[in-house]
Amino acid sequence: MSANSVYLAYLVAAVLFILTLKGLSSPISSRRGNMFGMVGMAIAVLTTLSLTHNVVYILLAIAVGGTIGAIIARRIEMTAMPELVAAMHSLVGLAAVLVAMAAFNNPVAYGIALPGEALHSSNRIELFIGTFVGAITFTGSIIAFGKLSGKLSGKPLRFAGQHWLNLLLGIVMLGFGIAFFMSPSWTPFLIMTAIALVLGVLLIMPIGGADMPVVVSMLNSYSGWAAAGIGFTLNNNMLIIAGSLVGSSGAILSYIMCKAMNRAFFNVILGGFGGEAAADATGDGVQKTYRSGSADDAAFLMSNADSVIIVPGYGLAVARAQHAINEMSNALTDKGVKVRYAIHPVAGRMPGHMNVLLAEAEVPYEQVVEMEEINNEFADTDVVLVIGANDVVNPAAKNDKSSPIYGMPILDVYKARTVLVVKRSMATGYAGLDNDLFYMDKTMMVFGDAKKVVEDIIKAID
Ligand code: TAP
Repeated sequence: MSANSVYLAYLVAAVLFILTLKGLSSPISSRRGNMFGMVGMAIAVLTTLSLTHNVVYILLAIAVGGTIGAIIARRIEMTAMPELVAAMHSLVGLAAVLVAMAAFNNPVAYGIALPGEALHSSNRIELFIGTFVGAITFTGSIIAFGKLSGKLSGKPLRFAGQHWLNLLLGIVMLGFGIAFFMSPSWTPFLIMTAIALVLGVLLIMPIGGADMPVVVSMLNSYSGWAAAGIGFTLNNNMLIIAGSLVGSSGAILSYIMCKAMNRAFFNVILGGFGGEAAADATGDGVQKTYRSGSADDAAFLMSNADSVIIVPGYGLAVARAQHAINEMSNALTDKGVKVRYAIHPVAGRMPGHMNVLLAEAEVPYEQVVEMEEINNEFADTDVVLVIGANDVVNPAAKNDKSSPIYGMPILDVYKARTVLVVKRSMATGYAGLDNDLFYMDKTMMVFGDAKKVVEDIIKAID
């Protein structure tokens, strides 16, 4: 391909990536957005392949990687998505480090130095930035994967002077980066990389369970910047553009999630929040009483209501009850009940988790309402059905200053006339906190697996 055709193809792919992000911003256009992404990626990969000599090796690597990826993607449960994403980010980080090492090992082959000449100063900076961002992303993502998959404790690991240690390591790492810049050699390069690997662990270990969603999107952003770094090393405009898009959209998502959880971005990054959450799992030890009822009772209450708001959470995803809940809301709508779904931005285990599930079950979009819009309406609602949700409806976030989730916006379910809660037990949710909503006089617990309970409710409505 001529240089001009390559630039043109990359430009088309870049525009398609931007259209992808635009498409993904709404459930209605997300399918189209994904399509743009696939076409853009195909153009980018094929164009890059046309520039290389060792196509056979690359095709072999694509076949192996693609097969593994396809198998994992087919098998993975939607609820395990965040840990898979974290694992993938770690690979992007590792790739950035390895490419930087390979380029430094043989700069002439990578076109970043002429034979017999030293590395250009801008290339030294690129190698330094690409390597340390990649190394932090690599180990940080492995820790995030461990925490999200339950292989490591979700409890934050903290010790006195942690922030100072991180600062010190950061400064030492920068010092070796400057030494590498002044005179490129393996010793400062490797020491700097080793410190960045340790920093990745130290930065993510103190972050508690409640703040993990922000961490995942933050690592997503880091992996984008690491990819952009590789783009500079390889002199590949496409990688720079795609990496920057991932980096900046990940940063914007982290900001939006911090806002949704009322967290200060830097406090989350520095491990300032979420810690006490897991420790407080048992509550204050006082025996509190709650009411429980059957699926028949729930069906009776909802069938006789004017309006019902359904609040889906992580448990709906675990039970795969989205089709059943749609069937139930159709049955209620047929009886003249006004049914809507209230979506909390961090319900479930990944951004947009509930929107994806409800779209899969073909719940009409107009029934699905975001938190800010629906919060004023709970007070005028007859029945709220909380299904597999817990933290996102915990009133402690509003009225208990000592709660680790204090300040996080919640769905104001406690204001409704009657509250039904479907879950299997009185167990806590992700943040490990007891929930006073379950003990209110107006609340009725309906114990059982979400899908089974909803199927029983449907039978009782008919
Ligand atoms: P959670 O607070 O995690 O509560 C889910 C509840 O579902 C649990 O209390 C559990 O109680 C119940 N449950 C589990 N399996 C069930 C089943 N088969 N049938 C019925 N109920 C079931 O969920 P949430 O309210 O959606 O809040 C999300 C939490 O996850 C927040 O703390 C958020 O910060 C965190 N988080 C979110 C993300 C993103 S980006 N969304 C990522 C990581 C973490 P039982 O065990 O008693 O059934």
